[in-house]
Amino acid sequence: GTTLASAAAESGRYFGTAVAANKLSDSTYVGILNREFDMVTAENEMKMDATEPNRGQFTYTNADRIVNHARNQGKRVRGHALAWHSQQPGWMQSMEGSALRQAMLNHVTQVATYYRGKIYAWDVVNEAFADGSTGARRDSNLQRTGNDWIEAAFRAARAADPDAKLCYNDYNTDNWSHAKTQAVYRMVQDFKSRGVPIDCVGFQAHFNSGNPVPSNYHTTLQNFANLGVDVQITELDIEGSGSTQAQQYQGVVQACLAVSRCTGITVWGIRDSDSWRASGTPLLFDSSGNKKAAYTSVLNAL
Ligand code: XIL
Repeated sequence: GTTLASAAAESGRYFGTAVAANKLSDSTYVGILNREFDMVTAENEMKMDATEPNRGQFTYTNADRIVNHARNQGKRVRGHALAWHSQQPGWMQSMEGSALRQAMLNHVTQVATYYRGKIYAWDVVNEAFADGSTGARRDSNLQRTGNDWIEAAFRAARAADPDAKLCYNDYNTDNWSHAKTQAVYRMVQDFKSRGVPIDCVGFQAHFNSGNPVPSNYHTTLQNFANLGVDVQITELDIEGSGSTQAQQYQGVVQACLAVSRCTGITVWGIRDSDSWRASGTPLLFDSSGNKKAAYTSVLNAL
């Protein structure tokens, strides 16, 4: 393959990127997007604050710009994200208890129904576990509605869009020995044993020098896959530059390719200048849109 998507397709996988609606008028950006990627995630436009800014009033204008661009170009879409403690609309941030539970489930149902049939996989719940050594759930207004809020969200999503794969998505779950990884693993194991509808686990994969690509990444991905779910790298970026960065990208690609149920990789932006990171050069294209060493190492590893 001569592009990321065509190289990934040789093993039946996809290669995606996060897309921002306001960059769809940037011809350099769109040129790279159209050429290199066959899966798209809205960087912010499908989040709760974007799609339900006022309670019960849903707005899909910016999300639809991304979905329509992707579909017109023959690309698939990962939906991100139906329920999350962050980027909630203001009205939801101040809610609690059963009213919040109902509002969350209504949001999941409305958004998944609106996009029914158009989404390859939904991040149904994002970032619900705490960092550190406890393996506990993250405290949030959603968590305080009851520990079963996650499975309730997954059941609502399944009912609304039965054909979309339903994913749990998180960060710092790459290293098999971390408590957070183990805690998510146990939740997925429990969901599978009780028939809670879950099809995939997303690994955000935001790496930097303090949080490098773990040498046991393949083990993590394989252990999750062995529970009977697909695994996906969903928001990959790696701070650094040059051959060090290129080698780390290669390691992530190799870990995914070694696991048959690792169905694809998404990077969290196209050019370094598109990254959400405040500083650094974490992506595959430089700010002018040129291919970096990291790009070449990913292409060669696919
Ligand atoms: C980030 C976006 O890239 C930023 O533009 C926004 O300001 C904050 O969110 N984990 C996720 C993504 O699941 O939704 C986040 O995206 C990055 C971390």
